[in-house]
Amino acid sequence: MIAIGCDHGGYALKQEIIKEFDVKGISFIDFGTHDEEAVDYPDYAKQVCQYILEHEKAQGILICGTGIGISIAANRHVGIRAALCHDCFSAEATKLHNDANVLCLGGRVVGPGLALKIVDTFIHTDFSNEERHKKRVEKIEN
Ligand code: RB5
Repeated sequence: MIAIGCDHGGYALKQEIIKEFDVKGISFIDFGTHDEEAVDYPDYAKQVCQYILEHEKAQGILICGTGIGISIAANRHVGIRAALCHDCFSAEATKLHNDANVLCLGGRVVGPGLALKIVDTFIHTDFSNEERHKKRVEKIEN
């Protein structure tokens, strides 16, 4: 399951992503926000992160204007490894190397075409499970 959330700066991009999920039959839970009225991104980071921490196989997508604020907020949650990625190489690498469980995007930074490719790369890449990467992720968690 994919948990998705955003603030007002990420709302338009979130709508593009969930439209694509609907077309592709990808299951998701939308934690909002549900319009462009100003809200506080830590509130949406918290809801998505709590869901990820309670559901082992879940992954998250968080979007604000830059992606920066919402990634800082997400990474304050122990067990969350949130990666701000604006290219497909990073989206793949952060899954393979960091076992990232949340992808962050800036709705005012990337257009929907690139963002959809980044999302597709992230959700379809798994952790490499290589010992050297496992050891480093464990160090983060401990
Ligand atoms: C909201 O205007 C904006 O500050 C927010 O979406 C985000 O970019 C913060 O990092």
